[in-house]
Amino acid sequence: MGIKKTVSVLGLGRMGSALATALVNEGYEVTVWNRSDKSAPPNTNRVATTEEAFEADVVVTCLSTYDAQRPLLTKAVKTLVNLTSGTPEEARATARWAEENGVEYVDGVIMAVPQQIGTEQARILYGGRQEHHVLQAFGEPVHLGEDAGLPALYDLALLGIMWSVFGGFLQAQALVQTAGITPRQFTPLATDWLATVNTFLPRLGEQTRSGDYETEVSALDINVEGLRLLIRASAEQGLDVTVPQALHELFQRAQRNGHGAHSVASVIEEIRK
Ligand SMILES: NC(=O)c1ccc[n+]([C@@H]2O[C@H](COP(=O)([O-])OP(=O)(O)OC[C@H]3O[C@@H](n4cnc5c(N)ncnc54)[C@H](OP(=O)(O)O)[C@@H]3O)[C@@H](O)[C@H]2O)c1
Repeated sequence: MGIKKTVSVLGLGRMGSALATALVNEGYEVTVWNRSDKSAPPNTNRVATTEEAFEADVVVTCLSTYDAQRPLLTKAVKTLVNLTSGTPEEARATARWAEENGVEYVDGVIMAVPQQIGTEQARILYGGRQEHHVLQAFGEPVHLGEDAGLPALYDLALLGIMWSVFGGFLQAQALVQTAGITPRQFTPLATDWLATVNTFLPRLGEQTRSGDYETEVSALDINVEGLRLLIRASAEQGLDVTVPQALHELFQRAQRNGHGAHSVASVIEEIRK
């Protein structure tokens, strides 16, 4: 086994600290830098300037935004592993900057919370060149392709699913709690139901590609009616209806455009407009 590369982590927020700790646990020599005074994870070398941090073979960035990290980067960086969240275009612009400045570039996103870093539950989606020896310290690296914008694209797509589920779940909790049902009673049914919902996704996904919206399961019409009932039941209990209302409006548009008898996958036509 060769000598492990030296690694710097820029950003000691919740995630950056977890990344630095995982690197230490994997036997890397780790330097850390943070804008403000924050305690450094054990067995890391805290430096005061980014210039010192850039002496490492690999620089991992994990700051809140690209706007925060852009002014910090210089061509003194040898290899940049960018784990700051952003848009695909921000990632591609950083990849172009890296190429112009002779910096090796790996773009990644972390599909995990800090507590999962260093375990196999943490998926690290990455793009650019096929190099992931440092990413392996953080979890399970998955290479998406040469395009440095792909990790951010997947990240936002997957988080979008999560936020929609959170919105629906919170609406559901609010609704059942109007009848005195506790989370302890309701949540197991919700997680079971999500497992069932999961089984619908492969077919729906395929239909969004093929445009064949035949369904023997449930037509859009019946889903629009169901959403109307959810809105009415929520309003009757004095609850906010923003979440189901947004879906109802979108589904109704697809219905008006002739998709009432089709599967819910047909709604993608409205989203693409
Ligand atoms: N937490 C998660 O569960 C999670 C999961 C996946 C991905 N991520 C991504 O990881 C990144 C960091 O998240 P986090 O949870 O660690 O956030 P955080 O705890 O809020 O930490 C933010 C970090 O960014 C630094 N920062 C902010 N503005 C700066 C600026 N203008 N110049 C220099 N440094 C600046 C902060 O420095 P100071 O300490 O000086 O403020 C801190 O180190 C984000 O892109 C996030 O989307 C997080």
